[in-house]
Amino acid sequence: MMQNPALHYHQLSSYERSKMDSHALDWENEPSVYKEYPGGEVFPIPLEVKMPPVSVFELFQPQLREENPPPLSFDLLGQIMLLAEMLTGRARHANGEIWFRSVASAGALYPCELYVACPGIAGLSAGLYHYRVKKPALVQIRTGNLLPELFEASAPDESRLVFLVSAIFFRSSWKYRDRAYRYHLLDSGHLLENLLLALRAFSFAAQVESNFDDQRVNDVLAVDSRREACLALVRVPFTPPAATETAVPLSPADGLSRRSQVAAREKFYETIQQIHQATSSSLLSGRKKVPVDDFWSRYRPVAGQSDKEIAPPVTVNEVCSYPDVLLHRRSRRNFVSDEPLSTSSFHVVISLVAEAVASPSFASLGLTCGFLVGSVAGTEPGFYALKTADQSLTLVAAGNFLSHMAHACLDQRWLGKAAVHILLFTDLTALENAVGARGYRDVMLAAGRLGQRLYLGAAALELGCCAVGAFYDREAVEVLELPESTNLLYLLAVGPVKK
Ligand SMILES: Cc1cc2nc3c(=O)[nH]c(=O)nc-3n(C[C@H](O)[C@H](O)[C@H](O)COP(=O)(O)O)c2cc1C
Repeated sequence: MMQNPALHYHQLSSYERSKMDSHALDWENEPSVYKEYPGGEVFPIPLEVKMPPVSVFELFQPQLREENPPPLSFDLLGQIMLLAEMLTGRARHANGEIWFRSVASAGALYPCELYVACPGIAGLSAGLYHYRVKKPALVQIRTGNLLPELFEASAPDESRLVFLVSAIFFRSSWKYRDRAYRYHLLDSGHLLENLLLALRAFSFAAQVESNFDDQRVNDVLAVDSRREACLALVRVPFTPPAATETAVPLSPADGLSRRSQVAAREKFYETIQQIHQATSSSLLSGRKKVPVDDFWSRYRPVAGQSDKEIAPPVTVNEVCSYPDVLLHRRSRRNFVSDEPLSTSSFHVVISLVAEAVASPSFASLGLTCGFLVGSVAGTEPGFYALKTADQSLTLVAAGNFLSHMAHACLDQRWLGKAAVHILLFTDLTALENAVGARGYRDVMLAAGRLGQRLYLGAAALELGCCAVGAFYDREAVEVLELPESTNLLYLLAVGPVKK
């Protein structure tokens, strides 16, 4: 067994300017982005979202929302699924068309699938359901209460409803080859965050579980685990209805696994199989914390600059209606360099990330956040450290680094015109040594979750936002003279865009 498989994978899937080869896409073999279960009973979800107005910013604060959920029914569950992932717009291209969704996805390849294991609620009998995103519906793929199987596989507790997020590997590896596992995880994080916000919108508390027995869970899902694998579970406690129904027998999973195939000729990337296997072993017990603020102790703050305190998060603002924001969230790259980001918007953007990065589950992964400030009213351009312990931003290097970073991001020049870049990185060696290879999944899922928050927060502020997973890894770290042990995981650009 290799010593640090996650670090090895991250290095192996790094981009290097001198080693980029062209990779023509095989359009004849383009993977389908819609999984089908023909023959399964279909429960259509009405497209209309019925919910009291709620600001997206309120949803970012669990303490404001997670109490007294209404009784769970199919209608409500359908609304939650719809909010988690819905089609929002269409574009044509030379080889066909793309339907965009309320979640961002690397290359719009949408590798993720969403399922729910339900013990039986009003309007829906016990079973495993696949969420059909096109013509929204829950499609029953297995009958019976599968929760005991899942609970044995993950930590036992009284949770009743379990959502499962999976990724179909070939959908992204068709284009991104070995690097695709990064995107399977980041994309899953985006979907996970959307699901958690949807649950919170209806006052449900939820718990993300990434440390489960992979084989058992994939068996319950009945996927072909070489092609598709569950990457995260979300457990939601609710008050079950009085038991009136007789128990539904568990149906066999015959034939379901072939549904994980999404193209006629699929290529299996050994690198992806290997890293997925390596991250399938449990987190090391007695999970240690990877120290985050230690990272910044290597930097001396720029002399004469006082730390910026992070302002408390914004609460209600009617332009930020949550379903509207979801519908209008898109990747926007048409940044305008002559309009600085306002101080108040900058504070909101910081607080969106700061709260999450400081939360125990994220902080224990050593997920570290830095800001590259280009054009923000009243803020000197430079590289700022987000210090979670004292909730402050500290200037650690003065200067405008955005166009250098754009160069390091495969020369995506539009990045140079954004107001800020938000960088998410970690020290993978320290992470793996502390919690094992599975920590890689957790930290990438966490980065994806932050990415989705930033997208939604930016949309609510009528700012542009675009995620960037494509960068020359070493160059990106060198731009900021970060220590060699730093691994950049994800970058997001935010700022005013052309109206
Ligand atoms: C993990 C991830 C990586 C991405 N990397 C890039 C990138 O390097 N460059 C870019 O222009 N867009 C990038 N995007 C944005 C996607 O291209 C975009 O989400 C997708 O085309 C769907 O469009 P939409 O976000 O407008 O719905 C990335 C998105 C995700 C989730």
